[in-house]
Amino acid sequence: LQRKIGGAVEEKTAKHLNRIEEQVSLCDTIVGDLLEFTRGRASEVIHGEINPLLEKVLEEIATPEQVTLVSDLSPELPMTHFDRDKMRRVMINLVLNAFKAVTLRREKWDNAESPYQPLVKVTSSKADNGIRIEVEDNGTGMDDETAGRAFEPLFTTWARGTGLGLAIVKKIVEEHGGSVLIDSELNHGTKVTLVITEGVKS
Ligand SMILES: Nc1ncnc2c1ncn2[C@@H]1O[C@H](COP(=O)(O)OP(=O)(O)OP(=O)(O)O)[C@@H](O)[C@H]1O
Ligand SMILES: [Mg+2]
Repeated sequence: LQRKIGGAVEEKTAKHLNRIEEQVSLCDTIVGDLLEFTRGRASEVIHGEINPLLEKVLEEIATPEQVTLVSDLSPELPMTHFDRDKMRRVMINLVLNAFKAVTLRREKWDNAESPYQPLVKVTSSKADNGIRIEVEDNGTGMDDETAGRAFEPLFTTWARGTGLGLAIVKKIVEEHGGSVLIDSELNHGTKVTLVITEGVKS
């Protein structure tokens, strides 16, 4: 379009056209990520314990200064079928969201009398017919609209967000025959609960 109109556009119009072009290219990148994800890699499903994977992810992930990351992993979990790489992605997405939420809350905190202590907690426990994993934070929490749309692909309220994190989490957990639940309260925090009951169906 820019080429067609040639030089015959005002500076302001040219600026808009540039912006459109930039945004289209951003969309392109995002769609590329999406496709890459949907195609997935060949699943490498193992039957085993999930705790070692959780421990490894928590060890690898860079915790922001000031943030306390704690874990409470039950030693009595049944073994489950899971895809290591995909579950790793799930945990990274959830923990990074929690870090973001506590960091944002910390930046807005203005009560000098009671300092804010950013806290992220990862728990694993036995569920009725499988395992439960929880990622809980005392960060910003979500308003109702955000909580309702959080799993929508490309829905984000964060400046640097793409809005794919939770959509990916949901897809992977459902591939594992599981479910995801968000429990969030504005200015208190968020708890994301995964229940995996049947192992990977594929
Ligand atoms: N732990 C959380 N606390 C508060 N809000 C959250 C939390 N996790 C997700 N959200 C809200 O849900 C939105 C969607 O999250 P999602 O992980 O899908 O995307 P994102 O983090 O914005 O971008 P991306 O994960 O692709 O980098 C976020 O923009 C934020 O508004
Ligand atoms: Mg995210």
